[in-house]
Amino acid sequence: MTDQNFQPPVSQASISVVGQVNSAQSDESGRLKEPATIVIFGASGDLSRRKLIPALYHLHRAGFLPDNMAIVGFSRTEISDHEFRETMCQSLCDDVESPETLPQHPLIRSLYYVSGNSNDPESYKALQERLSQIEAERNMPGHRLYYLSVAPALFPFIVQHLTEAGMIYDRTDPRWSRVIIEKPFGHDLQSAQDLNKTITRYLDESQIYRIDHYLGKETVQNILTFRFGNSIFEPLFNQKHVEQVQITVAESLGMEGKRGHYYDKAGAMRDMVQNHMMQLLTLIAMEPPSALEANAIRDEKVKVLRSLLPLREDEVREHTVRAQYTSGMHEDIQVPGFLEEEGVDPNSRTESYVAMRMQIDNWRWAGVPFLLRTGKRLRKRVSEIAVFFKKPPLQFFRKDSNPNLCLLTDRPKANQLIFRIQPDEGISLTFASKRPGMKLDLEQVNMNFFYKQAFAERSPEAYERLLLDALRGDASLFTRSDEVEFAWRFISSVHQGWDADPRPPVHYTAFSDGPREARRLTEGIAPWRPLQNM
Ligand code: BG6
Repeated sequence: MTDQNFQPPVSQASISVVGQVNSAQSDESGRLKEPATIVIFGASGDLSRRKLIPALYHLHRAGFLPDNMAIVGFSRTEISDHEFRETMCQSLCDDVESPETLPQHPLIRSLYYVSGNSNDPESYKALQERLSQIEAERNMPGHRLYYLSVAPALFPFIVQHLTEAGMIYDRTDPRWSRVIIEKPFGHDLQSAQDLNKTITRYLDESQIYRIDHYLGKETVQNILTFRFGNSIFEPLFNQKHVEQVQITVAESLGMEGKRGHYYDKAGAMRDMVQNHMMQLLTLIAMEPPSALEANAIRDEKVKVLRSLLPLREDEVREHTVRAQYTSGMHEDIQVPGFLEEEGVDPNSRTESYVAMRMQIDNWRWAGVPFLLRTGKRLRKRVSEIAVFFKKPPLQFFRKDSNPNLCLLTDRPKANQLIFRIQPDEGISLTFASKRPGMKLDLEQVNMNFFYKQAFAERSPEAYERLLLDALRGDASLFTRSDEVEFAWRFISSVHQGWDADPRPPVHYTAFSDGPREARRLTEGIAPWRPLQNM
């Protein structure tokens, strides 16, 4: 084997953690001090089964929740407490060692169910009576967390009825009441503004918790720790040193036979970019907050969003690419194209993929392209933020400058810092290194940190963290009204540009890297990173 064929293993940094404690277990400071009642609107839906009840179960198991909590499901379906408990037990079966003991578990015994119509004042009277009765029986102080996991059209009605039924407390009340609102928060700028106006008639902003589950992911929370808890990278995070930033959220899932109807109305822009990707963008680009406190953090995020200038129609054409997947093969299985999916209009112009080149018009980031891409049915599930640094100012490593130089590429590549959000959660830094041998040959190597290797504890699921924070009254990981509106201001400008553009979306084959048209967005800078393992 010649040394040119030899492929050295990618270097790995070894990371050890000093004084390891299991932070997924509660200590006194993290534990909820007083029990609260959680009321889930839309409790018969998928989210309760898949995310909310499992999250509450894990929080209870780790000691964060007192035994005398109460979780009350509310929806139209007429079922008993017993049937509700049984369904929720089934959703936990895979998570526990002895599922037969689940019915006796304190969390399952704290589940109740009330059936009713969320637009009928009588249902709220019945709900309030039941809640008071449960709270008295369980000796609870009456704090309430209402979780709205329902169609967005119902948000204003529920908030209004809760207030009129005396179920939202004011500041003078020693009990607290908070409302978690699921996405989508509005359909465009106007509807988001209308929704904010309506719900703030009944609720104080401090009682509103707009949820974005990406903010509950460990790796997303770690962006701020990495940037502001270390001194070596932050000085480089600006237009002097950064060439471009790529934010990717690629999924291999499609409509899975059930999401077509919703997704055809939303598209990748509303489903992923307005919320999750805008949040990633703010975290990677924001200034250090004045304190680690909800409003200080959100103030800085809003500044980034304000600096995203709405795009003109010609800019939308030039800087965005929207696309739909066509049929493709994965592990010998043929999947339908987007337009053939159940619930999708065969003439739909909705995008299942979007890529954009954006500018943050502020002092720190002037002139640095921020590239965003997200799509369904791509080659691989990869969510990451890649910061590409500028190349060294002087190129010593040129083929013509030294006869002993044997470069496989003309110049070393730029350093990249990659925040891997999922899978292979971690952070990686690429840099140039000399290959062993008599020639001067450069190779790109990685220094990797993987959560799985560095920490023994399991990473809590996003909903665990977010539910606990809402119960503790910490809104840092929830979005404020102005954040949502500024994000919509930018997104709505893109939608307007698309509406005015007669060209239909372009296409990409299912399980590919996306449409080739997206390449034009990287003209003059390093190309898109391949969708690959870290
Ligand atoms: C949801 C979107 O908000 O996020 C889905 O509605 C998407 O379309 C999902 O699949 C992705 O979340 P995660 O946590 O799997 O990356």
